[in-house]
Amino acid sequence: MGWFGGGAQTPKKYPAAEPAALRAELGRRLSGVQRHRLLAGFPMTPVMGPARRGVVWPQRTEPRRPVILGALPHTFCAPAVRGCGFCTFPHEPPDKGQMLPLAAQIAAEFASRQHLWRHRIIPAVYLGGGTANLCSTPALAMILGALAANNLHGAELSLEGAPRFFSAEQLELLASIPGAQPRISMGVQTFDEAALARMGRQHIGSPAQVQAAVALAQAAGAATSVDLLINLPEQTPAAMRADVARAVELGVDQICVYHLVLREGLGVPWAESPETLAALPDNTTAFDHWRGVRAALLEAGYTQTTLTNFERPGARPFRYERLSFAPHTCDALGFGPGALSGLNFGGAERALKWLNQPRSGDYLSCGAGKVARLFLYEPHEEALMQLTRGLALLEQPTGEGPLAAHLHLFGPELDILDEAGLVERPPGALRLTERGMFFADSVAGLLAARAVVYRRAAGLNEPAELHMG
Ligand SMILES: C[S@@+](CC[C@H](N)C(=O)[O-])C[C@H]1O[C@@H](n2cnc3c(N)ncnc32)[C@H](O)[C@@H]1O
Ligand code: SF4
Repeated sequence: MGWFGGGAQTPKKYPAAEPAALRAELGRRLSGVQRHRLLAGFPMTPVMGPARRGVVWPQRTEPRRPVILGALPHTFCAPAVRGCGFCTFPHEPPDKGQMLPLAAQIAAEFASRQHLWRHRIIPAVYLGGGTANLCSTPALAMILGALAANNLHGAELSLEGAPRFFSAEQLELLASIPGAQPRISMGVQTFDEAALARMGRQHIGSPAQVQAAVALAQAAGAATSVDLLINLPEQTPAAMRADVARAVELGVDQICVYHLVLREGLGVPWAESPETLAALPDNTTAFDHWRGVRAALLEAGYTQTTLTNFERPGARPFRYERLSFAPHTCDALGFGPGALSGLNFGGAERALKWLNQPRSGDYLSCGAGKVARLFLYEPHEEALMQLTRGLALLEQPTGEGPLAAHLHLFGPELDILDEAGLVERPPGALRLTERGMFFADSVAGLLAARAVVYRRAAGLNEPAELHMG
């Protein structure tokens, strides 16, 4: 009998769960870079197999499940930005001429897969992927028009971008979708002007530009969400708290706090500078800084809703992020270059995850139908997806979805994580401790480690462009 307890689904070459090996694996992960944002869950992109020609889309979905929609209008970044020094997001040089053709292809993609999303409950839509607000107004109108063919009444409708590019026209467009609740989401990183200049962001995200974007959104009745980076090179705890205080003072509805992900070889400009790398705090210090920032936000009355997100008291709770972390209750469909989708059916049918062509040019030339990567989950992998994705919710029920039947399979890992003070297991739930929150990437990594070894042995590990995860 194998680790999975036998049966038709038992993977034959699954690695054994040796406590000493799991402890060593966790130790290795805890000492490495902590990717605080768990955007992908299991499987990360490299573990997804390349999609073969002729993917056959499911002809039906589970109609009672809600579905959140994401659209990535393009993969371009600001014209003047070589990259913000630290940024792991796709930022191809902008090509204005591609904006409308991309929007048309996204509209075609909506139409070709409409049986997967039309007539279902759509609680939230996110136009993102980095700097979606660089999208021209006609292109944005085309995408929103295609979406609004469905009833978006009550849906949260977010537009992501850099502060400088939000315009009154864009906000009007968002606000014109009947019944939708608009929001903008942007990077602030810091309000420290010297640090912004070191990032190369002084012309796209100055404090004045941030303030202007917030004012524009508030005037249009849109909610606001800002990203702050912490543990920047040489950044002091006082500077981090000053950034939080400034964001609170602005009255934004959501503050997202991201521990800087940076290491040698990361493929971003800052990773090429030994001085910058040497000026980063070690993980113990970085965790202390993060705790200080978290405490300051809680003291200001903000509620921590996910690993990285804190919501203003009295603000309408945001939906997109939370729902995206509960894949067993809500599907997610992504459209446009680099978009990820996940469909679950419940019952015997296997869950599916796919990645669209990651570059704008390839997405245009391949046609929306030819996806780049595809992953068909085995039942225990669906449980692993639920488990790793759900970590971002800080506490998740373990008696629901595929996890209910498979939790015991992750018992050896959970024992080691418990022993290390990273998780707690109250009856029927799994909860991250405060330390577990900061080291959530290591928690997810350990939970998935054996599954990844198994999948790699099965020959499914193809190199891929890996964005933030
Ligand atoms: C794709 S960006 C969208 C923001 C928008 N393009 C801007 O620059 O204002 C989303 C957020 O990811 C975060 N991010 C990017 N690179 C990161 C890294 N290396 N470590 C941690 N967070 C990062 C930044 O806080 C950024 O605001
Ligand atoms: S942080 Fe935003 S503006 Fe800067 S490189 Fe990344 S996506 Fe572009």
